[in-house]
Parts: sequence; structure tokens; C-alpha cells
Amino acid sequence: MMQQPGRLIGLGVGPGDPELITLKALRLLRESPVVAYFVAKGKKGNAFGIIEGHLQEAQTLLPLVYPVTTEALPAPLSYEQVISDFYDEASLAVAAHLDAGRDVAVICEGDPFFYGSYMYLHDRLAERYDAQVIPGVCSMLGGASVLGAPLVYRNQSLSVLSGVLPHDELKRRLADADAAVIMKLGRNFHKVRQVLEELGLAGRALYVERATMANQKIVPLDEVEPMSSPYFSLIIVPGERWQG
Ligand SMILES: C[S@@+](CC[C@H](N)C(=O)[O-])C[C@H]1O[C@@H](n2cnc3c(N)ncnc32)[C@H](O)[C@@H]1O
Repeated sequence: MMQQPGRLIGLGVGPGDPELITLKALRLLRESPVVAYFVAKGKKGNAFGIIEGHLQEAQTLLPLVYPVTTEALPAPLSYEQVISDFYDEASLAVAAHLDAGRDVAVICEGDPFFYGSYMYLHDRLAERYDAQVIPGVCSMLGGASVLGAPLVYRNQSLSVLSGVLPHDELKRRLADADAAVIMKLGRNFHKVRQVLEELGLAGRALYVERATMANQKIVPLDEVEPMSSPYFSLIIVPGERWQG
């Protein structure tokens, strides 16, 4: 008889505070025989750190270790190719468990469908296997809560922007935004702050590192040392307060 394949579960574990995981994510995490997670070489993994207290010995861990830590690779290597090959291999590793009938929970910091690496597995596997996605509290909402920053009032629109955007493109989009969240700071921090200053938005912008985590840091934007801004940081430009 054919083995019934396991389920692929994209599991959002929230922005950092271990209590910000949903009941459903926690149940499925505990029930999954295999727990997969993306991680940088030599690191524990952010998502893993959030949920490790819930794991049991019988569960199999499947770390999916990124082959590179930077997009700037020496020629002839291309980041896109290297990372695409890596996601292919990671999909095969996950599929081997699914084919053996084991559910695989792929834990994901924040929400799996919001810039989450899980998406690359989903794109490769969801047509062949039963895939279920459990949403999580994403970092921008965790950030807004710890910054005490209501994001959008009434009919305002929110723009979510990547700090990786070139200066002029970022400026164009921010100039049009009622409210904005800027993700992926790190080495992009200096450029992003410059754009905010040029648009006269720096005074309204709020910055947080590792929102909701034990080592969370909230720093006034003009006091952030650009070289020390970590990858796990974001900026919020809240919508203008509505005097309702
Ligand atoms: C690959 S994306 C992952 C987003 C995640 N899936 C989510 O739902 O928030 C990584 C970016 O999310 C932001 N981020 C994730 N967790 C964060 C946190 N706890 N505090 C601040 N920013 C965070 C940073 O901007 C970081 O560069």
C-alpha cells in the first residue's frame, strides 16, 4: 500500500516573545515529528530560539543551513543561483520526510508568508503535498506594539518597504506614503535614515531592534550607530494621528 505523505506545515512563531505564538502553531509544533528551520552556519537560529522550550526529545530536528551569509559573492558565483540551488536541496530534504509519511513543521520567525524563507519551500512543494500555513504575528506588528505606535488611522494606507531599495526609489515611495514600515535595515540603515531626513520624516520615524525579544532595543533614530544596526531591526513611520 502506498504511504500517505506527511503534511508540510509553514508555522509562524511570532516576532520573538515566546508568548506571541498562536495556540494553533503551538499545537502543531508539538504534534510534528519533524521540525525544520532555516539557520545561518554556526548560529542557533532565531525561530528555533523562540520555540526550543516546547520541543520534545522524540522530535527530529532538520536544520536547513544557508550556504552563504551575504549577497555579495565573488564572480563567477551568483547569489541568486547559489541560494536557489540551496532551496532546491532544502526542499528535497523536507520532501524525504514527507514521502516517509512524516509531517514537517517549518518554523518561521514572524509570519511565514511575510518575507519568510518558508515561502521558497512552499513554492517548490505545495503543489505536490498537503501544505498548511499557520500565520504568525509579524515583526512590524510586534514592532508597532512595543513602540506604542498606532500604524494607520481611518482611511490611511500603509506602505511596507524594503531597506534594500535604492535611495531614489525608497524616497519616491516614502514621499507618497501615509504611513510606512521599513524592513531589512542592517547595512541599509544609513541610506534609509538619510532618505527620511531628506523628506523631513526623521522626527516622526521610530526605530526598534529585535522587537519583543529579551534583548529588544529602542533607540531614537538620530542616535542609532549605522554600523551596529542589526538585520533584525525596522523603522516605523506611523500615520498622522487623527484627532477623532
Ligand atoms: C526575512 S524578514 C522576516 C520577516 C518575518 N517573517 C516577519 O513576519 O516579520 C527579516 C526582516 O524582518 C524584520 N524583523 C524580523 N523580526 C524582527 C524583530 N523581532 N524586530 C525587528 N525587526 C524584525 C527585520 O527588518 C528583518 O530584516
